Amino acid sequence: MTPVDTYEIIEFEGVSGILLAPESGGHGFVAVRHSADEPSWSDSGTHVHARSDEIYFLLKGRLDLIVAGGSISLSPGEMLLVRAGIPHGVVGGAGPIEHIGFRAPALDDRGTGPTLPGSVPLQPGEWGHHISLREPEARNCWLLGVGAARFHSPHLLLAYLDFPMQAEAVAGLGTRLQMHAHRASWEHYLCLRGSKTLIVEGDMVEIHPGQMLVVAPGARHNVIDRRAPYAGFTFRAPILDDKVPG
Ligand SMILES: [Fe+2]
Ligand SMILES: [Fe+2]
Repeated sequence: MTPVDTYEIIEFEGVSGILLAPESGGHGFVAVRHSADEPSWSDSGTHVHARSDEIYFLLKGRLDLIVAGGSISLSPGEMLLVRAGIPHGVVGGAGPIEHIGFRAPALDDRGTGPTLPGSVPLQPGEWGHHISLREPEARNCWLLGVGAARFHSPHLLLAYLDFPMQAEAVAGLGTRLQMHAHRASWEHYLCLRGSKTLIVEGDMVEIHPGQMLVVAPGARHNVIDRRAPYAGFTFRAPILDDKVPG
């Protein structure tokens, strides 16, 4: 399998495993994995990713982690951003666990971590961030990215969209968003609730919970509809200012 020319829909409902990675034909700028109702697990010690950031988003259950020497428990609706080079690992939790993991870029750069110097614990922001997507300010904006994004991430531009009401779900569609392409970056729409309809290279594409749409560079696309209550992620990598009208 080679990376797609235009677009691809990846099903993840009930699927535990890698959804997108270079070894399964992905593009390499972001890896995505999903666990569906898994029992709790423990990594074998802590590890680091030399150059990639890792992001955990929990949908169900509880995930207990060690990050930069400190303990963190993730609850449903919470996200953890762990920066490259920071030792971390899952040490337990409570199942059934459903989570989505992102790693950007999708490098094979996992290794045993350096021991953190000294006894001064790192502060949030130094190691990464523990973010609640239940808070309104975390929703419907660029949450991760560069520039005006709430949390700095040099490798992944990511928004969590949550529109309980239909009027909010369709506000701006057709005006703010217009047919466009990205010269070199890959766009992804991951649907958790409701539905989303796009035009991609002339095809009407509708995605539902448990589906992720991957749009290749150069493919002209536009979001034309959402059905509330809608929730899902929109993310793009690499972060380039490469949007061109279609
Ligand atoms: Fe990791
Ligand atoms: Fe786009």
